[in-house]
Amino acid sequence: MKVLLTGATGYIGSAVTEHLAAAGHQVVALTRSAEPQPGRGWHAQVVGDTADPASLAGAVTPEIDAVIHLAPPSGDADVDIAVIEALTTPLRGTGRPFVYTSGVWVLGATGEAQEVGEDAPTDPIDIVGYRPRIERRVLAETAEGVRAVVVRPGIVYGRGGGIPAILVDRARLQGAPEYYGEEGVRWPTVHVDDLAELFVAAVERAEAGTVWHGVGESAVPVRDLARAAGRAAGVLAAPRAVPVEQAAEAFGALFADALALDQSVSGAAAVTALGWRPVRPGAVAELMSGSYRPVEVFGAPDGPETDAEVAAIRRLVAEVEHAQQNELADRFLGVFRQEDPVWTTGHGRRLSGFEEIATFTRKVLPGAAAEATAVYDVERVLFLRPDVAAVNVRQQPVRPDGTRITDRPEGRPFYVLVKEDGAWRIGAAQNTIAVD
Ligand SMILES: NC(=O)c1ccc[n+]([C@@H]2O[C@H](COP(=O)([O-])OP(=O)(O)OC[C@H]3O[C@@H](n4cnc5c(N)ncnc54)[C@H](OP(=O)(O)O)[C@@H]3O)[C@@H](O)[C@H]2O)c1
Repeated sequence: MKVLLTGATGYIGSAVTEHLAAAGHQVVALTRSAEPQPGRGWHAQVVGDTADPASLAGAVTPEIDAVIHLAPPSGDADVDIAVIEALTTPLRGTGRPFVYTSGVWVLGATGEAQEVGEDAPTDPIDIVGYRPRIERRVLAETAEGVRAVVVRPGIVYGRGGGIPAILVDRARLQGAPEYYGEEGVRWPTVHVDDLAELFVAAVERAEAGTVWHGVGESAVPVRDLARAAGRAAGVLAAPRAVPVEQAAEAFGALFADALALDQSVSGAAAVTALGWRPVRPGAVAELMSGSYRPVEVFGAPDGPETDAEVAAIRRLVAEVEHAQQNELADRFLGVFRQEDPVWTTGHGRRLSGFEEIATFTRKVLPGAAAEATAVYDVERVLFLRPDVAAVNVRQQPVRPDGTRITDRPEGRPFYVLVKEDGAWRIGAAQNTIAVD
């Protein structure tokens, strides 16, 4: 299909562009600027501004098979209704899809209800006050022969962006992770690449007049997201609850209310009916050891294959951390190669061979995490060969609640990893206490 995409330069639009192209579609990007933007993977570019609906006349040519409208609302309901009219009128009577992007904030606080579905009534918070009206206007196009569809994303994360990036920046700025409003606030979340695949599914096969929640995890405690954002920012401190009135000073009252909104929203309908598969790591994992904490990579070309290897290496190091923190000797030993691994501990003890490492681990690990443990972050990866990597890790001592023990030095583990039978394992390891 030739798909007209508004908001194509944005956070979600960039991912949607890639996934549409990967599925064999051609993206015609509607941009405010006429400046060509090579390298974005667009088939063509047309100029238009949703603040000026008249500028959209002519964007939906007879060659356009589908429209995905991702550009944000203008703040004026009449303008936004006029935008919907400009973009849908040329599709009338064609049965072609028009996919409108709304958001789960139109549901308001979900209260006691768990995993609210698309049939729940809307009760929008002020920041999206008139958006349900736009949704209804879009869906009414079904009667005019448009395959009108609404997608409501949760809080979008991944690729180091979206609202979670704000939590990371704030943690860095304030020296402590923050969350807003009440202690138990939860956000429905979705990985930006999973969401992009939902847009592809919606444009390809959602029925006219349908609404879909783009939600991978229905209710993630924001306190956990804040802690993970602190980790991404290198701030190992307890998350701090910021009252909404105080948050309003930093973000404005409307956005502060949205950040403090407690919701539990289900994305199951799209999984069942559209065959959508949200498979990316969850929001907490992504913040802890994914795109919000870039790794320096040497010796391999930029690209998805290297990204996948680095992600696998990070998972291995996360396994080291998990096994240490939970005193799981077998899982810890599972990160080593069976054949002749060597390990020099932070205190200079040399261990040679799997059996020696196993004996030592089973002796020292039980009880080791009772008062102090550690977090492990991959900082640099040098691919010596495609299947051999030298990895610099930062190891920081923490209390069992994850806060930094400031009077103990950090460690600088160095691992030589080998990829065998599709899995990375430690062939040689050396830890050094940092004395700077
Ligand atoms: N991010 C989330 O967590 C989330 C969650 C739920 C719903 N949503 C909704 O998803 C949509 C996209 O969000 P996003 O996070 O990708 O936003 P974003 O990164 O800010 O991108 C916005 C895009 O819209 C374009 N745009 C802005 N004003 C425009 C105008 N007047 N005319 C034409 N294009 C305009 C921007 O183009 P320029 O390059 O010209 O600036 C950009 O491509 C929005 O409707 C948002 O409300 C987002």
